[in-house]
Amino acid sequence: MEAVMIHSLSKTYPSGKQALKDLSLSIGGGEVFGFLGPNGAGKTTTVKLLTGVLTPTAGSCSVMGIDPARQPEKAHLVSGIVTEHAQMYDNLTGMENLLFYAAAFGLPRQEGKARAESLLRELDLTDAKDRRLASYSTGMRQRLSLARALIHRPDVLFLDEPTSGLDPESAQNVNQMIHGLARREGITVFLCTHQLRYAQEICTRYGLIEQGSLLAAGTLEELRGRLFAAKTLRIRAANVLGNPNLTECKLKRRRDDEFEAEIRENEEIPALIRTLVEGGGDIYSVSLEEPSLEDIYFALTDKRNDSRDNRKGEAR
Ligand SMILES: Nc1ncnc2c1ncn2[C@@H]1O[C@H](COP(=O)(O)OP(=O)(O)O)[C@@H](O)[C@H]1O
Ligand SMILES: [Mg+2]
Repeated sequence: MEAVMIHSLSKTYPSGKQALKDLSLSIGGGEVFGFLGPNGAGKTTTVKLLTGVLTPTAGSCSVMGIDPARQPEKAHLVSGIVTEHAQMYDNLTGMENLLFYAAAFGLPRQEGKARAESLLRELDLTDAKDRRLASYSTGMRQRLSLARALIHRPDVLFLDEPTSGLDPESAQNVNQMIHGLARREGITVFLCTHQLRYAQEICTRYGLIEQGSLLAAGTLEELRGRLFAAKTLRIRAANVLGNPNLTECKLKRRRDDEFEAEIRENEEIPALIRTLVEGGGDIYSVSLEEPSLEDIYFALTDKRNDSRDNRKGEAR
């Protein structure tokens, strides 16, 4: 059974705004899935549908085999949710907040306390556990929110922009903690974000959404392969020009001792380096530059804009 299944899901708000259009996706157990897209793309709408806050206009979805629209309580037991602004009690301490949610999920008091202690330790909040939430920084609040979401050992953790209000250091921290917890607890993570660099650090697979439609889904390798035929090899070297065997390898000079070659397969690298060295070249460094998640994201959105422009052209 897949942890999350989304089948031809559409959502039109009462205002008439169609926020999701025929979205289909499936996420396997233990995946850290990055759901990426600009503001207004439909990420939060998707999470609300998956957590039973909204019901679909068409299509269906399930979390651990449970339809959140039909069985919201059962769906809550297997899901944990962290949103941008954590809703917890300012007048309670960190520990009291966690005990409150543990009780709400029906955990026996001793078990809830042990679970809370262990999460507070993991999230570096032990020293602050007896302080009222009102005195917590935004980063500490988000960490406590993560602890709250995990208190009942959910199978799937939904994170909707969990680091967007944080400074880079706290964001990095929270990100690393999500990564560590996901691995140790074997939990499936559904992470919505537009912070591509953080996503690239922790996600195992991605889905890109824009204007309610899925543009692509896959691992970084799959998306790279689908979008970019060539990779760039950067070489710092001397005495490589004038090599008679170089003609076919398309070595382009960028600066004094910096060169670039477009390659398709990694297997081309040793042959190219051998040619350079055998021709009397001195190699100082070689690095393979692969497209980042950001490159993929922009390539996909450009493509979409191109095809839209073409359609406009045809209509004229
Ligand atoms: N309650 C609502 N009523 C009407 N339109 C909404 C509502 N919530 C969101 N939208 C619209 O639906 C689209 C998708 O929003 P959302 O799912 O919040 O995107 P994201 O989380 O990717 O930024 C946006 O155009 C947004 O303005
Ligand atoms: Mg959102």
